Amino acid sequence: MRRRKTAAGAGSPLTGIVAVPGDKSISHRALILAALARGTGKITGLNTGEDVHATAHAVAALGARVVLADEDNVEVEGYGLRGLREPERVIDVGNSGTSMRTLLGVCAGIPGVSVLTGDDSLRSRPMLRVAAPLRQMGAAVDGRRHGELPPMVVRGGDLRGIELELDVASAQVKTALLLAGLRASGTTTVTEPAQSRDHTERMLAAAGVTVGRTGTSCSVEGGSELDALEWDVPGDISSALYLLVAALLVPGSELTVMNVLLNPTRTTALDVLRRMGADLTVEEKEVAFGEARGDVTARSSQLTATEIHAGEVPALIDELPLLAIAASQAEGTTVVSGAAELRVKESDRIASMVAGLRAVGGRAQETSDGMTVEGPARLGGGAVESLGDHRVAMSFAIAGLVSAEGVRVSRWSCVDTSFPGFLDVLGRAQGRLA
Ligand code: S3P
Repeated sequence: MRRRKTAAGAGSPLTGIVAVPGDKSISHRALILAALARGTGKITGLNTGEDVHATAHAVAALGARVVLADEDNVEVEGYGLRGLREPERVIDVGNSGTSMRTLLGVCAGIPGVSVLTGDDSLRSRPMLRVAAPLRQMGAAVDGRRHGELPPMVVRGGDLRGIELELDVASAQVKTALLLAGLRASGTTTVTEPAQSRDHTERMLAAAGVTVGRTGTSCSVEGGSELDALEWDVPGDISSALYLLVAALLVPGSELTVMNVLLNPTRTTALDVLRRMGADLTVEEKEVAFGEARGDVTARSSQLTATEIHAGEVPALIDELPLLAIAASQAEGTTVVSGAAELRVKESDRIASMVAGLRAVGGRAQETSDGMTVEGPARLGGGAVESLGDHRVAMSFAIAGLVSAEGVRVSRWSCVDTSFPGFLDVLGRAQGRLA
């Protein structure tokens, strides 16, 4: 197994100003919305990771013209809402749950058969949550275990708009259904048990589609055409948080991550860290395409434990692994509950975080729907299994900075899923790289 030593013992302070790759959620959507629009859309600041590449390949396989000017700058020519067509080949989206789920919604509106598959991790992740409502809308959707597991096969065509109530708050599922709703007759309304990230709603509105929104419900009318836009993607706040938490934990740090997305459905981790005692400053600079963006600064802080309940979980779903590392350095016992959804992410993130923390000298326990983490723990360091999960890998790289011996993370290259160049940015923040 390839292991990579990341960082050892109380690394040097993180200082200065750094940038992170474009927001992954916005990048996926910018590509898909451009593929559904008529005309040439331009995207700058596109996330350069493997997941977003998978979406770019997929929309090209579905008939959009995608031209990569350079890694984070792309032009997409779409042929309108009815312009996509049956793909000639199986579409492999690798590790990307967002690509798989959102594209199932797109394929449901394309006459013909589309087949979507992914890597070992993605082929074990639940898809019935998308397949079942798409079936109700009139698409034939199947997969292994009666439509629960990929590869997924969709026979798309005429869809009808309906009202759907989701059991789990999921932006991926909501997005799939809204995108299918654009190709359906009548109105499609999706209601979630709690608010998940709302980029699709905001970006569709920016592209000229009327999106109804009340509480945690949103709706679109079938047949609403999209404008081709020039999207400029802000930095990914979920990626920025690894560096910000590193700055909180390593004494003597003061680090700014510039131009990151500040959508309120994505900044709950900043609120949680603040209530743990974190010294964080947010400077909002502008609002573009309905999304706020700006700079965030973190200064080294003494943290205290907190409790995270079900209501907050959808807005923290990608940050909980990193918050577990922060909790290991905070005074007291942090309790996370109502977070069973973590078990069906790129890995079972409850199991992988608790096992990893214990392996490096932390004190953590699994519960059925969360975990408890006791701190502050003096982490010795050692080897951790990332299970190929990018967020687990990066979280333990941050643990490495505050460990005595450093942390070795297995399958380190999975970081390229969302944050290529992570160690370079970290190195620059620590003054180790120019
Ligand atoms: C995403 C939604 C989240 C998140 C994922 C990206 C998106 O998943 O975990 O990394 O871009 O819609 P769910 O909202 O489906 O849990």
